[in-house]
Amino acid sequence: MTRFAYVNGRYLPQNEALIHIEDRGFQFADAIYEVWSVRSGDLLDADGHFGRLERSLAELRITNPKSRVGYRLVIAELLRRNRVRDGLVYLQISRGRARRDHAFPAADTRPTVVMTAKRLDPAAADRRADHGVAVITRPDERWARCDIKTVNLLPNVLAKQAALEAGAAEAWLVDGAGKVTEGSSTNAWILNADGVLVTRQADHAILHGITRSTIMNRAAALGYRVEERSFSVEEAQSAREAFMTSATTFVTSITSIDGRPVGNGAPGSVAIALRAAYLESL
Ligand code: PDD
Repeated sequence: MTRFAYVNGRYLPQNEALIHIEDRGFQFADAIYEVWSVRSGDLLDADGHFGRLERSLAELRITNPKSRVGYRLVIAELLRRNRVRDGLVYLQISRGRARRDHAFPAADTRPTVVMTAKRLDPAAADRRADHGVAVITRPDERWARCDIKTVNLLPNVLAKQAALEAGAAEAWLVDGAGKVTEGSSTNAWILNADGVLVTRQADHAILHGITRSTIMNRAAALGYRVEERSFSVEEAQSAREAFMTSATTFVTSITSIDGRPVGNGAPGSVAIALRAAYLESL
């Protein structure tokens, strides 16, 4: 089946969908992105992701080329053309195409808008969550504004690859003080010995995950205490449970950290309950 992409107003077969070599996204990673999960044809946490998209653009002073209604029309058409009921939508917006020069181009430069959609098997993700995953830790080598969802992901790419090569599914990034910031593409959580859920405060060192904030609300509604603060690798290794959240993994248990089992080494009941609560609420 031909997959279709949206590029600057046109729907094209994906292998004919091109951007210019002087696009600033390609040249400088001068671009932001968003990822929505799609379940049964609906975008999950749609408005949260639109809100973050608008904030990322504003932080980088890229003019927002479309309204939410405009984006939603394109997304609906892409889901239809690609026959996606369960999967992902990817949106990237760069500062546009201009002769290579570090400073911003002329104010009338049009941002480049690219969107794709792909199908994913929800049962495969559920099976992975049933087993739980291993993580390794890596030094966090990223820049100081990880709250902006830019395509500047090279440290994340290297950390994820290191995880896969070590037989793990994710790398938890550790700051200079020995505290976990987040995963290479997920937010990091633990359930500590006192039964409190802990996830790092939403400062400039992490992406403010949309799934993270939905889970914070769900957890509070279920009666769990949630603390937003940093935690060390040692605290995580001796926690009752650990898990990660993102648009693509929802809530997925972490069963070992650097080879040390978390709890009894199996997915914990709180992570399982939070995943179920998240999926049920959709
Ligand atoms: N990743 N932290 C990082 C570094 C991320 O890249 C992501 C998302 C998250 C979780 O955010 P959210 O809950 O809003 O998906 C946290 C996306 C899925 C990606 O890059 O594919």
